[in-house]
Amino acid sequence: MLSAAFNIVGFSWITSPAATELEVIVLDWFAKMLKLPSQFLSSAVGGGVIQGSASEAVLVVLLAARDRTLEMHGKKSLEKLVVYASDQTHSALQKACQIAGIFPENFRLVKADYSNSYAVAPEAVSEAISVDLSSGLIPFFICATVGTTSSSAVDPLHKLGKIAQVFEPVACDN
Ligand SMILES: Cc1ncc(COP(=O)(O)O)c(C=O)c1O
Repeated sequence: MLSAAFNIVGFSWITSPAATELEVIVLDWFAKMLKLPSQFLSSAVGGGVIQGSASEAVLVVLLAARDRTLEMHGKKSLEKLVVYASDQTHSALQKACQIAGIFPENFRLVKADYSNSYAVAPEAVSEAISVDLSSGLIPFFICATVGTTSSSAVDPLHKLGKIAQVFEPVACDN
């Protein structure tokens, strides 16, 4: 009876405005703590939500990227979309790709640099993307991990981010 009376149902604003407003505020705190650019804040185009698990978060961000890319390239482009990650990446990404309808042959696990703490080499990712672009495929998602489950590897976020920036306009022209 107590939980029925006091429980909040925080899955949308209308079901619990207070919980949702608090979530927005707390996630803005996180964005500021992590020194993310201001577009990550709810006052701009950003703002976040708290997901129930890491797998759910990976799936949600993959679906968002997939739909954004399909909007640019047309809904029939699904079979051309390619995802990149290190071979140290958690299986949650593969699961998300299956749910999102990414073709299994377009899920690229790039071999990590085993001589450098098992982090993925940006050059290897960039090379895989170039090969796919020249085959007419559409690279749309790079997954980087800070602390892989199997080897605690920290992928080079900054360099992978730069690669994503460099290739994004090229991919959109396909
Ligand atoms: C790096 C990494 N990603 C994703 C997951 C999946 O997490 P969850 O069980 O919260 O979905 C884990 C779980 O250990 C993980 O270590």
